[in-house]
Amino acid sequence: MHLVLVGLMGSGKSAVGRACAARRGWAFVDTDELVEAAAGASVARLFATRGEAAFRRLEGEAVAEACSSEVPAVIALGGGAVLSAENRRRAKGAGFVVWLTADADTLGERVGTGEGRPLLAGGNPGETLRRLAREREAAYREVADAVVDTTGRSVEEVAEAVLREFDRAVEARAGR
Ligand code: S3P
Repeated sequence: MHLVLVGLMGSGKSAVGRACAARRGWAFVDTDELVEAAAGASVARLFATRGEAAFRRLEGEAVAEACSSEVPAVIALGGGAVLSAENRRRAKGAGFVVWLTADADTLGERVGTGEGRPLLAGGNPGETLRRLAREREAAYREVADAVVDTTGRSVEEVAEAVLREFDRAVEARAGR
């Protein structure tokens, strides 16, 4: 069973994912990094040159690749990957899905000017995140097995909370 992290940009998926992977000695996979390796370009450059639809196609392939990892892995999905029903199905099939949340101000502080994140370019990142939160809430809720709030907590504190949820689920699924 893999540990899959979902949530908006700035929710801490990559930092918390790395911390969880380090604690357990598992692999860490970030779908944005898989996309960048496959395309030979940054996410921002991909959006600019080939458009969001092309990015989403590559993202779907990256989600499929990550979820079929044969070694235990922590998988951080790009914030918008959950918009695809196929990606949600793969994530659920891969293991335990944790939705990392944070209040809008916290997300805004973490993403700063939104550099490197094309959906936040040319606007007010805080407002865009508020809109994306509304638009995506149902998708996150549908895919998540557990929700962990990251507001006001350190990466290590969140990682601990996430792994506690994961361990509880492993025990429950083993019927203990
Ligand atoms: C996106 C989130 C980004 C990246 C791309 C689109 C989104 O990933 O996949 O910029 O649609 O929310 P992070 O959530 O890791 O920043």
